[in-house]
Amino acid sequence: MKKCNLARDCLMLLFGAVALFLFCLVPPVQAAGADAQHLGVASCAGSTCHGATSPTADTNVQLNEYVTWVRRDKHAKAYEILLSDTSKRIARNLGIGEAHSAKICLDCHADNPAADKRSPSFQISEGVGCEGCHGGAQNWLSSHTSAPPHSDNVAKGMIATDDPVVRAGLCLSCHFGNKDKFVTHRMMGAGHPRMSFELDTFTQLQPAHFIVDEDYRKRKGAITGIKLWAVGQAVMAREHMAALADGKRNRDGLFPEFVLFDCHSCHTPMSNKNWRPRSNGVRIPGMPHVNDSSLVMLQVLTKVIDPALGRAVAAKTRALHSNGSASMGQLAAAASDLRALTDQMVVKFAANSFDGDVMKAMLKGLVQAGQDGEYSDYADAEQAAMAIDTLIAAMRAEKTVSEAQLQKLTKSLDAIYAATAKDEAYQAGRFNAALAGVRTALGG
Ligand code: HEC
Ligand code: HEC
Ligand code: HEC
Ligand code: HEC
Repeated sequence: MKKCNLARDCLMLLFGAVALFLFCLVPPVQAAGADAQHLGVASCAGSTCHGATSPTADTNVQLNEYVTWVRRDKHAKAYEILLSDTSKRIARNLGIGEAHSAKICLDCHADNPAADKRSPSFQISEGVGCEGCHGGAQNWLSSHTSAPPHSDNVAKGMIATDDPVVRAGLCLSCHFGNKDKFVTHRMMGAGHPRMSFELDTFTQLQPAHFIVDEDYRKRKGAITGIKLWAVGQAVMAREHMAALADGKRNRDGLFPEFVLFDCHSCHTPMSNKNWRPRSNGVRIPGMPHVNDSSLVMLQVLTKVIDPALGRAVAAKTRALHSNGSASMGQLAAAASDLRALTDQMVVKFAANSFDGDVMKAMLKGLVQAGQDGEYSDYADAEQAAMAIDTLIAAMRAEKTVSEAQLQKLTKSLDAIYAATAKDEAYQAGRFNAALAGVRTALGG
């Protein structure tokens, strides 16, 4: 062992103290990213950068990301849509001036950093550009081109879009909203389209400007569709419950904030006369109810991978519905309890590998939920359809079912999508009949 050296130890101590002091001064990583300047799409789209016309073979990334985005990705048109007649009507109905200069629209239809975080080359009209998802590039633009480990870029403020939890929070900040930006029922009433989201499906729907191959997995790890689905559901429920528990967001004057409730529990023709109880007794005739589509998915999932957690989610969901008809305070309390459970779920799902047996049990659980009357609402059926799609795709990729079974499953999936094609024409009976095909394909 080396002899104690007082002078050196003092020096080390001094270094330690200075480092600690600096550490306290420097804000955490994500905040450093949030503080960065946004440079605009042009700074990414150079022909030797991400603006190649076709994928490049000898680099880690394709380098034609700009072309994919500008030609095929709806995010590139997100600002333009604010100039449309529909947007003009929404803005007029809300009395907010022009949609394309209203902060409440720009916050989701563009990358919209504060004025002092925009470099001269930044243009709001680019819509949801690269930095809208990858974060302001000021601190990593020059260093990321030498292909450092992804973690180095993230440490400089690049958003970790490869992390399912981070990605879910990012997409949902616009596809559901958060405490800073939100589509309220007033906006819906003014003409904004109804929104729904599922992380795996929307990841598939967004024209991919990245390829998950061997090289990608080596750099960023393996992220399966089913993990994206599971984490996405938990984060969606977390954001929904956070809004319900937040006194500022859960009401609008005399009424609760209707956007957090099931749209079709109010918006159906009176002549329908198709109200049915649910087997778990959580539906009350003539009462609007909270949109529980993510919670129903999470019940099915947790029942398979952690039955005790599954029972807790089911019990709290029942409390949410029954308290919901008692008072706003009780509704907010139940939402707050569920919000806490979603934190546990996010950690559990991010660490789970979802093997073949788990997938099969989940698929069966999704069908059973239909038999139990859980899909009486369109929103629940819509989520179930996307979940079944994700599971079948995973089974195909991992070859956990036979080719004959796959063919039958794919046919049932077509029937399931047909039964959910139009929200206002939705009939639970037809949807459940389509689900029966999945059960048969799985063998009982
Ligand atoms: C919380 C985020 C958010 C806010 C706030 C928001 N939007 Fe949207 N908007 C979206 C998303 C996400 C979509 C796409 C939904 C989908 O297709 O699933 C969308 C879709 C639309 C569409 C339909 C686009 C199409 O291709 O048909 C219009 C029009 C629109 N929004 C206008 C507005 C206007 C005007 C405002 C301001 C009053 C506004 N939005 C505020 C997130 C938002
Ligand atoms: C709507 C969100 C979104 C927008 C807009 C977006 N990206 Fe991405 N990008 C992603 C996601 C999600 C991934 C995949 C996860 C990951 O690898 O980080 C990704 C991955 C990438 C990758 C990494 C590929 C790899 O193999 O590691 C590059 C490079 C990239 N994007 C560049 C761009 C550029 C350039 C633009 C603008 C022209 C852009 N992105 C716009 C969400 C977005
Ligand atoms: C800054 C806000 C924002 C973020 C972040 C965002 N989106 Fe979007 N997204 C929008 C808006 C606005 C639209 C509608 C654009 C339009 O129709 O013109 C949209 C449209 C889409 C569409 C097309 C939907 C349709 O009906 O065709 C997909 C798919 C999509 N987003 C997926 C994603 C995914 C996946 C992520 C996360 C990686 C993500 N988005 C992140 C705002 C956002
Ligand atoms: C608690 C009941 C309730 C819920 C839940 C509800 N709404 Fe509404 N909605 C109303 C009422 C009341 C009006 C106003 C009707 C009027 O102006 O005549 C309305 C109006 C609307 C309108 C305007 C219709 C028109 O005639 O122009 C749209 C669009 C709309 N809602 C969409 C939605 C969406 C999307 C959801 C779910 C995210 C939803 N609503 C949830 C009660 C509800």
